[in-house]
Amino acid sequence: MKMHATPSGPLTGTVNLPGDKSISHRAILFAALAEGTSHVDNLLVAGVTESMLAALKALGVGWELEREKLTVHGRGMNGLKVPEEPIHCGNSATTMRLLAGTCAAAGVPVVLDGSESLRSRPMSRIVDPLWEMGAPIKAMGKGCTAPLQLAARLKGQALRGMEYHAPVASAQVKSCLMLAGLAAENPLEYTEPSPSRDHTERMFSQMGAGVQREEWDDGSVQVVLEPQRGRAMHPMDMAVPGDISSAAFLMVAALITPGSDVLLRGVGLNPTRTGILEALREMGAQIEVQHLRQVHGEPVGDLRVRHSPLQGVFVGNPMVVRMIDEMPVFGVAAAYAEGETRVDDAGELRVKETDRISALSEELRELGVKIEEREEGFTIQGGTPLKGGRVKARGDHRMAMALAVAGLGAEGSVKIEGAEVVAESFPAFTQTLNALGGEVAFREEL
Ligand code: S3P
Repeated sequence: MKMHATPSGPLTGTVNLPGDKSISHRAILFAALAEGTSHVDNLLVAGVTESMLAALKALGVGWELEREKLTVHGRGMNGLKVPEEPIHCGNSATTMRLLAGTCAAAGVPVVLDGSESLRSRPMSRIVDPLWEMGAPIKAMGKGCTAPLQLAARLKGQALRGMEYHAPVASAQVKSCLMLAGLAAENPLEYTEPSPSRDHTERMFSQMGAGVQREEWDDGSVQVVLEPQRGRAMHPMDMAVPGDISSAAFLMVAALITPGSDVLLRGVGLNPTRTGILEALREMGAQIEVQHLRQVHGEPVGDLRVRHSPLQGVFVGNPMVVRMIDEMPVFGVAAAYAEGETRVDDAGELRVKETDRISALSEELRELGVKIEEREEGFTIQGGTPLKGGRVKARGDHRMAMALAVAGLGAEGSVKIEGAEVVAESFPAFTQTLNALGGEVAFREEL
């Protein structure tokens, strides 16, 4: 089976977005660490969150899921049980990295493993600082990769908070250490070079943990987590905002398809995530934010997106961090824009579900796009019509969806191998796009 994306007419209509992936992960896990019952609505039900839910079941946490409504029976950090087998985190680095911090805090011995793709992703970024905090963790894979093995902590041996300057801006690393910090005997002072998504800070605060976050003049951010001294977090009752990372595919699809006018409802607009909105607007995109509101400590709004001629732009640090997951589809927008788009400071793209700099360069080139690859970024000369062709998702959900969007405005069909992987983060991707008037379908190979 391949996904076929066919040049299509205008996209029109209204869409409610599935829940944000990062917030869904955190809601599931943090609810499990609270004491009491939590209710989470609009949870993202997809491959990555299924990994997190299964992991918590293995750790003895009770939950029920009915469509997108999740109930979690949290028993506090000390209520986690030792799993009988290694925990398989699937393709989800968020699951692995956040669970490593959690199990370190809870003193639960565990082996965390994952798919081949997850086994190739860098883990020294969490293993080294967790070790420094006193967690007996080691990476069993070559070059500090998964599986990760966490041994039992000796009785009476608490974790140490510390002052830590992260070399990369990563919300997974920050969240991993903050989770470990919940059980530390002194504060964790975490500094990141530029602002990564701050959902953990917001949710911890809402759940009663002592967190301060400060942005400094040099662009860095410091997060201080107070020792919890055995205090459990409060359970939550929340609705997960729609995922701006999923919305980005629909935004770009509407922008490049003449006559399009779509309304994307309930999109999370946390400022650490809205880089894509700003970059597209700078390119000339007509995107209007309507009904901006606060939902459980997160800004949410509706986005009206209309077809717009786009111009190339430059994107570098710190904007790149605020749109890191949207880079594949941003590359597609750049291919449809007039002139040059340059992306710098984006080396992190090389350690995502696949190396997204090479993937984007090689696959877009198949469709006739002029793209130059660099170690830390890429440059696209846009404005030449895209041709149809055969491309590969490379096990990466966001590459699959970006390539499908590319096909909507191309001169011929784009056939994407391995596109089933969209189910990792946006299972209803094809239905959603087709309901707006797109033509995307799985077909037997021709
Ligand atoms: C995520 C953080 C980002 C992002 C990933 C989800 C999170 O990764 O790319 O999809 O939920 O914390 P990094 O922390 O590696 O930048």
